[in-house]
Amino acid sequence: MTILQRLTLTRPDDWHLHLRSGSLLRAVLPQTSACFARAIIMPNLQPPVVRTEQAQAYRREILAALPVGHAFQPLMTLYLTETTDPDDVRTGFLEGSVAAVKLYPAGATTHSDAGVHELERVYPVLAVMEEIGMPLLIHGEVVDPAVDIFDREAVFIETRLIPLRARFPALKVVFEHLTTRDGVDYVHACEHHTAASITPHHLAINRNALLAGGIRPHYYCLPVAKRETHRLALLEAATSGDRRFFMGSDSAPHPDHAKLSSCGCAGIFNAPNAIAVTAQLFEQEDALMHLEGFLSRNGADFYGLPRNTGTLTLERLEQAQPVPPALPLEQGCLSVFDPQIPVYWRVAD
Ligand code: DOR
Ligand code: ZN
Repeated sequence: MTILQRLTLTRPDDWHLHLRSGSLLRAVLPQTSACFARAIIMPNLQPPVVRTEQAQAYRREILAALPVGHAFQPLMTLYLTETTDPDDVRTGFLEGSVAAVKLYPAGATTHSDAGVHELERVYPVLAVMEEIGMPLLIHGEVVDPAVDIFDREAVFIETRLIPLRARFPALKVVFEHLTTRDGVDYVHACEHHTAASITPHHLAINRNALLAGGIRPHYYCLPVAKRETHRLALLEAATSGDRRFFMGSDSAPHPDHAKLSSCGCAGIFNAPNAIAVTAQLFEQEDALMHLEGFLSRNGADFYGLPRNTGTLTLERLEQAQPVPPALPLEQGCLSVFDPQIPVYWRVAD
């Protein structure tokens, strides 16, 4: 296999990751810890990770599941509920046990039932977070059944996010898994305290992947992929060098049988190829000079964390690489994201 190019980057971080727990955690974690130094760990377990104590226990479970020789730091988050205790949030952040709080509008996605119905009810928590500089990670979709699923992000910005930011102007916000031009425009318009994570899959596919020529549950995730104009806006934002955008894979494993069903789960598992797919897209956009910022710098800078000191080398091959094989699980298997484009990049051994 001929290697045409090598690219050595500061070791990347994944700013949005679902690891689950138990045997699924043990199956998926090595895929991330092999390449990434740190990841923001999403708290939507069942039951959700709502208190610092639970985040500490979950962190211990993750560290115990790490393969020997992998150095990986899970950055824990708390799942915001209407009964979240502001003092627990403050202590967890100040003692370094939790890095951020995740806001799920109740009913918006997988395991979000315990999320927030009325934003006003979490104002005391947001006030503390604003005061101590703790980031709020937002799943930015309204859940109103009257709002078309493809419009839910744009409506969230107008009806929820803009009023929320007016009330807490110094609150640090990460708009998670951005999927629309409206979201990109919103981030561009914010002068301070605002960033967004973008997934490899929303950079690679539009909603046709899910619906054209047959229904393909492996492309179903939330927020759902939008039309091509939105994908192009995301790609432009990610590859522009703008430091407010960084990679959050939103790798969200569900066993194949749970996706290939009459009511399939939302989530795309991309941990094994998130970096290679992102590199491919940046190459296509002639933007490899901004890849390191997107994967390895912008997120750390926004969170106020040191950049990693290690490196990761990528190789550009002459031949396209196959989609990584499905992972065997205790029950069935776990398919990996197929970006529907040839990927010539891989992480070097
Ligand atoms: O597609 C998704 N899957 N979106 C989310 O917001 C949650 C995630 C999951 O946990 O499976
Ligand atoms: Zn997610």
